[in-house]
Amino acid sequence: MKLPQEIIRHKRDGKVLDAADIEAFIHGLTHEHITEGQAAAFAMAVFFQGMSTDECAVLTRAMMMSGHVLDWSKEGLGGPVLDKHSTGGVGDDISLIVAPAVAACGGFVPMISGRGLGHTGGTLDKLEAIPGYDATPDRTRLARVVREVGCAIIGQTAELAPADRRLYAIRDVTGTVESIPLITASILSKKLAAGLDGLVMDVKTGSGAFMQSVTDAEDLAHSLADVATRAGLPTVSLVTDMDQPLASAAGNAVETAHAIAHLTGVKREPRVQEIVVALGAEMLLLGGLVADMEMGRRRIEAALDSGAAADRFARMVAALGGPNDLLQRPRAYLASAPVVRPVPSPASGFVTHIATRDLGLAVVALGGGRRRAADLVDPAVGLTEICSLGSPVLAGQPLAFVHARDAGAAEIAIAAVQAGMTIADEPGAPRAPVLACIVAA
Ligand code: URA
Repeated sequence: MKLPQEIIRHKRDGKVLDAADIEAFIHGLTHEHITEGQAAAFAMAVFFQGMSTDECAVLTRAMMMSGHVLDWSKEGLGGPVLDKHSTGGVGDDISLIVAPAVAACGGFVPMISGRGLGHTGGTLDKLEAIPGYDATPDRTRLARVVREVGCAIIGQTAELAPADRRLYAIRDVTGTVESIPLITASILSKKLAAGLDGLVMDVKTGSGAFMQSVTDAEDLAHSLADVATRAGLPTVSLVTDMDQPLASAAGNAVETAHAIAHLTGVKREPRVQEIVVALGAEMLLLGGLVADMEMGRRRIEAALDSGAAADRFARMVAALGGPNDLLQRPRAYLASAPVVRPVPSPASGFVTHIATRDLGLAVVALGGGRRRAADLVDPAVGLTEICSLGSPVLAGQPLAFVHARDAGAAEIAIAAVQAGMTIADEPGAPRAPVLACIVAA
């Protein structure tokens, strides 16, 4: 086997890595024979030089095999094992809504989710805003919750794709996130380790996505669908808009509260509903639970309207150690920030552009994300009531509300949100939420 530094040099110089070298590097990463510096240098080399589909498939498989691979065949679930995964965005709390909705329609969803990455929020950080919620249950508890409730949204335990767990944390803080092969291997190693029958990818594009252009997002969508299908996991990728925060809230507790309001019907924002219904319907179709997308859409809508999806979410939270009455009394449990301030619009007009990544970074700066891998996130901070593209505003009216630990942090976030939102005389035309659907070649 080559020395790690030789493997890094090889990739740095744009050469194709052998399967044995990739496997050896990932083995060393998992068992901590590779240093953090070497892992960061490897990630940067891949970032600049890319990988062929073959190399990416080997990397994905090596990362999947770095830990335990779940096998649901002995659980007697009686339905398909399905999941959806987002490539990451701002105000993207869709997983909290779609997993219970699909469970209510007969799918089983063991969703292995991640922490915030770069400027994006992480489903796991949002769930950890729920007191008592066990996001890293052992295999027995995970299997019981999936069997009895139909969904369990959890984090990567030390057992599942540990190589990704280590590399993900290093990429987060070394500017090496936005790489198609690294994103593909990171996501799919976890999803393949979860033993799925079908996967729907939500590939984000726009100012708040890792892939800012539609072309790059489509390339990532193809890479995900191709590598997953090659590994035997039927996968469909939807390319969806992230030119503005998806939900009107961005942060941890505030997004969990937002998702609860959507599930219970207290407040349903049309863009969030559209993405939930589109992804959920694709999942049901992939799992053979419906005959076509139209039927899938109707089933997901009905699961939301009847309260069946909310019921699954409540049962999942309780089964994983959270409060029994979270949906009835979210404010009693979800942390709230001591300082809440409006962000006054500097002018009258319409919101025509949102620098969504900057809003995500404002949440990180408030303490809602990490600067270093070991940082703890503050569940209480974030943004709420963020104006969407096309909204009319008057000078001085709020563009959003900042939730902060102290007045100084709030002032910095207010300035960042004001700088990140463009107000003009004419409203632009916002994009449709779903832009493309991509299957393997
Ligand atoms: N989500 C992941 O799990 N990994 C990435 O690299 C990006 C988004």
